[in-house]
Formats: sequence, C-alpha cells, structure tokens
Amino acid sequence: MGVAAFDGRSNVKSVELPSGKSISYLHLPCEKLNAPTIVFVHGFPLDHSMWNGQLPLQSVANLIMPDLMGFGKSNVINGQVSMRSMAGDIADLIDQLNVPKVIYCGLSMGGYIGWEFVQNYHNLLAGLICCNTRATADDEKTARGRRLAAAQVLKTGTNPVAVAMRPKLFAASALINNPTVVQSVVETICQTRPETIAAAQLAMSKRGNFGSFIEDINVPTLVIAGSEDGITPSAEMQEMAALIAGSEFHQVENSGHMTPLEQPDAFNSIVATWIANRDWQF
Ligand code: MLT
Repeated sequence: MGVAAFDGRSNVKSVELPSGKSISYLHLPCEKLNAPTIVFVHGFPLDHSMWNGQLPLQSVANLIMPDLMGFGKSNVINGQVSMRSMAGDIADLIDQLNVPKVIYCGLSMGGYIGWEFVQNYHNLLAGLICCNTRATADDEKTARGRRLAAAQVLKTGTNPVAVAMRPKLFAASALINNPTVVQSVVETICQTRPETIAAAQLAMSKRGNFGSFIEDINVPTLVIAGSEDGITPSAEMQEMAALIAGSEFHQVENSGHMTPLEQPDAFNSIVATWIANRDWQF
C-alpha cells in the first residue's frame, strides 16, 4: 500500500443536502470492483484532512471523508448542532452519493456521532470502526468543563484551544519526532471558527449514553486504541470492545489520541486486514 500521490484537500467537493445545508467531502473510488465503502468521520475540532494518512486505503475500499458541519469547508453552524444532527448529515451525504451501505469509521467525536448513526441509520450500515473513542456520556463535571470551554472560546478565539489540546492529543514521542503531523493538526484547529468549537463542545456535553446500546450492535466491528491515549484510554476501549459481540480490538503502540495520524501504517494495516478477512454484503 503506497503513499497517496496527492494531497486530499485538492479533491474536495461540496453537495447541498435535502436539509439545505452544504457539506464538503472527499470521495475516492477504489479501483477494485465491489469494494466496500468506508466513511471516515473526523474528531474535534478537526476536519477531513486528519485522514490524509488513510488515503492509501483506496487500494482496498472506496473512501468518503466529509467535513462535519462548521468544520473544514462545510456550512458554518448557525445555532446548535447535536451528535444526532451530524449523523443525519452523514446519512444524507451517503444517500446523495448513491452508496447503499458503508463501513462507518469515526475517531473520538466522530465515534460519538457513530453511535447515533448505528442507532438511526442502521439500513446504511455494513460495519463499524471505532477509533480512540468511548460509548458513555460525559459525567456532570466533564459536561460543565465543556460549557465553560464553549463560553471561553467565544471570548478568546481558537488559538488557545490549539495550544491546550496539542499535548493532550499526541503521544509524547510524536510531539518530538513527528512535528509535521502535529503542526498540521494545530493549523486545522486554529482555522476552525470559535462558533463551531463552542457548538461542538455543547453538543458533546449533551450527547447520549450508549454504554448499554453497544451490546446490541450486530455488524462487524473493529475497535482501535492508542497505547498512550490519555483522552480515551486503551484499557477503557478494550472494555468497550468486550461488550460488542464479535468485535476485534487492537491497541496501536507509540500512539496517543490521534492513532490514524500518529501511526498511519499500523492503522491502515489493521483496517485492510480486517476488511480482507470478511465477506461484505452491500
Ligand atoms: C476528539 O478528539 O474528538 C475529542 O477529544 C472528543 C472529546 O472532547 O471528548
């Protein structure tokens, strides 16, 4: 699986959804006939470019990489969003692209949105990849912290968010050895509007608890954790995976919260092998 020869950002398209919102996305078809389609949903407060390291997976799957509302080049957020509304935007995009079913892959906030996708758009779901995420809701202390952070970013702008998040997102080794990747994430955060960050924080603070729901998931599921993830610890993700019947759990070494960026080769190899070992029904 070679490194993709182009920058994914230059192939971004936009489409208007039935809701009137416009969503930006990258859509890369696989050369193989009947290949599965993976929709990659980014974390907070990033955009589809966080999946640039997954472009080589185009050799085994069709790839769809959207920008969630307010992020990247998608519509700005006027008012509130929710995990449910963002799952609905992804479902609308999949319908617009005439894709019958997808493997949903979400990182962290993308994973929180994923539980809503599984619950409400099961007809579009062939499989699930959960990266660096959790199924449970915030406790009151965490939710209060998000409300404060939402108010704060509207006063101070985005740059302090990037400064605060940088050491939390990456393994200590990545901060030293992988400055290009770290810098690209910092730049994406700095380019995100404060209103978007505030709306997403409030949406995450109100998200539902899917801790029991996941026991009913009945599609092939892959769970990928980072060995040094301080936001969604690997041990917690392993417990989560144990609740999802037939799921496969992998811990990627030398990785913090940004496993697909920090260790793209290990991540892609896990995903490609998991796909190759299954007979996908679309
Ligand atoms: C993310 O990476 O999406 C965030 O860390 C999610 C969160 O703040 O819970």
